[in-house]
Amino acid sequence: MADQYAQSGEEDRPTETPAIRWDEPPEGPVLVLLDQTRLPAEEVELVCTDAPALVEAIRSLAVRGAPLLGIAGAYGVALAAARGFDVDDAAESLAGARPTAVNLGVGVGRARSAYRAELARSGDVEQAAAAALSAARALHKEDAEASARMAERGLALLDELLSGGAHRILTHCNTGALVSGGEGTAFAVALSAHRAGRLRRLWVDETRPLLQGARLTAYEAARNGMAYSLLTDNAAGSLFAAGEVDAVLIGADRIAADGSVANKVGSYPLAVLARYHHVPFIVVAPLTTVDPATPDGASIEVEQRPGFEVTEVVAPQVPVAGAEPGGGIPVAPLGTQAYNPAFDVTPPELVTAIVTEEGVVSPVTAEALAELCARARSV
Ligand code: MRU
Repeated sequence: MADQYAQSGEEDRPTETPAIRWDEPPEGPVLVLLDQTRLPAEEVELVCTDAPALVEAIRSLAVRGAPLLGIAGAYGVALAAARGFDVDDAAESLAGARPTAVNLGVGVGRARSAYRAELARSGDVEQAAAAALSAARALHKEDAEASARMAERGLALLDELLSGGAHRILTHCNTGALVSGGEGTAFAVALSAHRAGRLRRLWVDETRPLLQGARLTAYEAARNGMAYSLLTDNAAGSLFAAGEVDAVLIGADRIAADGSVANKVGSYPLAVLARYHHVPFIVVAPLTTVDPATPDGASIEVEQRPGFEVTEVVAPQVPVAGAEPGGGIPVAPLGTQAYNPAFDVTPPELVTAIVTEEGVVSPVTAEALAELCARARSV
């Protein structure tokens, strides 16, 4: 569907290669990932035959983004089970591959519970492996459904807050089909605004240091024919000052019980800017990202990544975490120390609303969030 804002010849050509898929060739089951470290240059699939390969893919960000990490974790357990590896070992290494996105542990836990329950019931490892795979498939499907519902609720909220018209939305990191069973979280809202003819412009933060915005969000926006512009993260301030941003939409890696939001580093400064400029700051995330067991923002573990991601320009192909620096173009003197947290935490008072598949929380308080989670559990 073309509209007056379309700027490329690629409109409505969504990613053809799915971000993740289960396959069963004659050699045995595999988990196939679209290698996100190679985008946008090429669509290359990465085939995982065991949990250690998937752990490596998670650490290197070949597969990434909170909802997709949950789905990948669940399939990883199913893969270990189907290939006769130790399921508990696999589950532990997968759940610990990255610390911040709570979805990873949730996905792993769901598949492992299904495996254990079936094993206890039937004593049959093949049936238990099939149960783990069903759990992974169910999570995958649920995430796609949640994505569609978040898109609908998010667009309704935007229309309400901005009283109609076409919106200029600023986003950070990557939150589209590449991180989801469906069309994503924050990006799915922008996409539904685009389809409704109500997206004036998507402002895409490049998202240093690994450029998820430039490499992945711009790629998804172009493929969907959206009007978008890329900016360096530090250009956001002048964009707000010029009155060019109507709303900020981001995803989340973990939402603590008090409503604190961990998301890609650079999200918190956007929340501060948004508050100063009286612009809504909206978080879009499935309920699997809400973690009642983490009481507040200070309790969220923020992943620290290797310094070479900052001292070198490593995109588009990101070296495997833990590998010797090199492969990227050095942009700092040799031996420079770096501060490289992958995420930051935005306090609830700076968040205008949290949009989930089950409802919108606004204002964001521990009580409102707990009530939404309880309501969702009871249906
Ligand atoms: O380090 P990444 O690329 O996995 O970080 C991803 C993000 O921060 C996303 O914004 C977040 O997972 C929300 S995705 C719906």
